[in-house]
Amino acid sequence: MPIQLTTERLLLRPLVQSDFEAVHTYASDPEVCHYMNFGPNTEEETRVFLRASAQGWAEEPPDNYEFAVTLRGNGDLIGTCGLHLGPFRRAEIGYIYRREAWGQGYGTEAARAVVDFGFRQLGLHRVQARHDAPNVASGRIMQRLGMTCEGRFREAVYRDGEWHDVLLYGILEEEWRAGSLPGPADHAHPGD
Ligand SMILES: CC(C)(COP(=O)(O)OP(=O)(O)OC[C@H]1O[C@@H](n2cnc3c(N)ncnc32)[C@H](O)[C@@H]1OP(=O)(O)O)[C@@H](O)C(=O)NCCC(=O)NCCS
Repeated sequence: MPIQLTTERLLLRPLVQSDFEAVHTYASDPEVCHYMNFGPNTEEETRVFLRASAQGWAEEPPDNYEFAVTLRGNGDLIGTCGLHLGPFRRAEIGYIYRREAWGQGYGTEAARAVVDFGFRQLGLHRVQARHDAPNVASGRIMQRLGMTCEGRFREAVYRDGEWHDVLLYGILEEEWRAGSLPGPADHAHPGD
């Protein structure tokens, strides 16, 4: 049975090759990829990404969980949210959504479910995330999840003709458990 995470409005499932069209629509959009070390993609680059995601899911156990974030109502894929495992029960979360889906709370809802999955199902000790300082919306997701800003990498990326800082956020298992309610991911609202 493939892993599925459900929230109030979303269903998260493994990303598959047949998601190409939906993924490539936003992965080739320069505005969507502006603050990312990903894209804007050629078709071949999106196919390579999908192949790598499928390979990640095929590992036993996986160390790269790239979830397709879909609307429960109609199954539409609006983006992806990934959990990338490292040593010492550590992982990094990352996410990207098509433009029309922005600003409706989906990013926060999906990230909360994925972090909860990491701590409760995978037994992680620490989850971290990074964003370019001007990418305020991404930083808000990290804050709403109850993550702590642990550091600022000064002038770590060069975009639009200038240097930008990168902010690192992290949350530990005990902090997540203290802030979350028992039960399924959609009932856990740590950090609110
Ligand atoms: C960043 C991104 C993931 C946010 O997703 P989202 O679904 O729009 O986020 P949410 O609706 O859950 O909003 C999260 C917070 O950001 C705020 N926000 C959303 N868009 C914003 C914007 N353009 N400017 C400032 N704040 C914004 C929301 O108001 C909310 O804050 P609040 O809790 O104080 O109300 C989405 O814009 C995206 O996919 N961007 C392109 C890819 C990307 O940058 N990924 C992250 C790389 S680190």
